[in-house]
Amino acid sequence: MAKKTAGFEEKLLSGRALSKVMKSEIKQQVDSMIEAGKDRPHLAAVLVGDDGASETYVNHKVKMCAEVGFESTLVRLPETCSEEELMERIGELNADQTVHGFIVQLPLPKHIDVEKVTQAIDYKKDVDGFHPVNIGRMTQGMPAYLPATPYGIVQMLERHGVETSGKECVVLGRSNIVGTPMSILLSRSSKVGNCTVTLCHSRTQNIEQHVRRADILVVALGLPEFVSGDMVKEGVVVIDVGITRVKDASRKSGYRLLGDVKFEEVAPKASLITPVPGGVGPMTVVSLLMNTLKAANGEVY
Ligand code: GUN
Repeated sequence: MAKKTAGFEEKLLSGRALSKVMKSEIKQQVDSMIEAGKDRPHLAAVLVGDDGASETYVNHKVKMCAEVGFESTLVRLPETCSEEELMERIGELNADQTVHGFIVQLPLPKHIDVEKVTQAIDYKKDVDGFHPVNIGRMTQGMPAYLPATPYGIVQMLERHGVETSGKECVVLGRSNIVGTPMSILLSRSSKVGNCTVTLCHSRTQNIEQHVRRADILVVALGLPEFVSGDMVKEGVVVIDVGITRVKDASRKSGYRLLGDVKFEEVAPKASLITPVPGGVGPMTVVSLLMNTLKAANGEVY
């Protein structure tokens, strides 16, 4: 079967290619730090339970650390671990002077309060950028760790020279980790920003009318192929954050990955578009590495 991106290579916002460049830049910075006698950046990740997707993501993060010369520690806790036990491990990581930043992989088992956990992480080590202090500082344009996926998208727009100032940006989805921070970042007065942002969600009426006005469209709904070709305007820049596994017996793996955008219909009208996979996904991990590098260098706090 032909690749669905065939013929659209010129329009692709490839996270796979850009993340390679950025990883090699990070590695060079680590090499200079070591030469200067500084500590090697150290990221820790806490994984609770054995959710297959979370396991894949965390293993990928650990592998990327090795590739750029970071130290990493994986803390595994059983599905049955209590909230108190998890809080205790967080307290230890907060106190550990050798760990510059750490994350607790989400989702967590239902018996654990995610808000409590997020707030227990020392915001100075919160390289996921989920702590209310980091979210608040981001909102006010102060130095902060930015959440990885929005940060990756900002990097992508900047490195591809996409003009955002004065543009109509429509964000679909208001999650805490993608849609809401994305809407804030793009409306801020900054290099990538100054957009007029519309944030659409499950209660939005006439969503097509909003989508059709977009110069820049960010889709983070988790609804496979939600955006069709007739919904977008000619020349739109499309950022597809969705990545859903759907069963496909014709594949060796038994599934294929679908974005929130019907690529075949939207790509011909778009000026730039992220593929799925290989678009936003690889940028997310690079952003986590960038935040960890900043933590090790004391650049934010
Ligand atoms: N689960 C899905 N995305 C993320 C992320 O960026 N960070 C963490 N900690 N968990 C996630």
